Amino acid sequence: MKEVFQGFDAPDLLVGLGAPDDAAVWRLDDDRALVVTTDFFTPVVDDPYDYGAIAAANSLSDVYAMGGVPFLALNVAALPPDLPPEISAEILRGGAEKAREAGVVVAGGHTVQDKEPKFGLIALGFVDPRRAFTKAGLKVGDALVLTKPLGFGVTTTALKQDKVRPEDLAEVVGWMKRLNVGAAELGRTFEVRGATDVTGFSLLGHAQEMAAASGVQVRIAFEAVPLTAGATHYARQYIFPGGAHDNRAHFGPQVTFEGQFEDWEQLLLFDPQTSGGLLLGVAADRLGAFMAQAQADGQAAWVVGGVEAGSGVRVARDQVG
Ligand code: CO
Ligand code: CO
Repeated sequence: MKEVFQGFDAPDLLVGLGAPDDAAVWRLDDDRALVVTTDFFTPVVDDPYDYGAIAAANSLSDVYAMGGVPFLALNVAALPPDLPPEISAEILRGGAEKAREAGVVVAGGHTVQDKEPKFGLIALGFVDPRRAFTKAGLKVGDALVLTKPLGFGVTTTALKQDKVRPEDLAEVVGWMKRLNVGAAELGRTFEVRGATDVTGFSLLGHAQEMAAASGVQVRIAFEAVPLTAGATHYARQYIFPGGAHDNRAHFGPQVTFEGQFEDWEQLLLFDPQTSGGLLLGVAADRLGAFMAQAQADGQAAWVVGGVEAGSGVRVARDQVG
């Protein structure tokens, strides 16, 4: 394996394991590269259709996070042998309909038996290799824009603990099912170079990855970070998934909190997200036009911070600029 990963000369592999990103990128010619990614996970909600749709939106998100346009996918499924066939069918239907919404053809796939269900897609897309978004593309002076709120981890954990309020769950399911297609389109229009999607490593974890890859410092303004309606309700009760604590243990040493923060406020920024939004570095002189276009498109977008010289992540209560 070592030979293949470290010694294999693959000049057309533009993004691979050398500098891990949201997806691998393989150059086809000067104008086109293939974006390849896969993701699958255990159910985050009880409804099988919603689960399939969320898993598909999440899998396609890594193509959007590279600035790509997905076109083809395969199902990856592990299903318990005693799962009623109508439930399995609903999971796959949720995935297929979400793929269709994205203009993606699901051309096949593979299913194995397993005790706990798992579902996702292998997704392929195209990107202009000169215009791909990477985690290394942030520039000092960029504004950081986030396109979905935080609070998915605490809310789905509240569901697992039978403590969720139905309206909070409905809100979060709606966000998790939403494709990042519009956010990626905006990023291409305004020539974004630095981007990722906020998923399991949390806002601060993914921000730290981008800061390290780009050789910059990321600044986050806590009061500017959008939260779902129930996020603080569950965070105050410490209804966090284990991953929030793992993220803080792993990424915390590179994060500085300036000013007064409650412990649960800090932990909320480490909350793992499923099918979260894109985090985009937008050039300061294009930010006004970017936000105006987002509003015109009905695309959610919040300026949550910026990029400056240095390293790591610093979080203040306010001061976006
Ligand atoms: Co990603
Ligand atoms: Co992923």
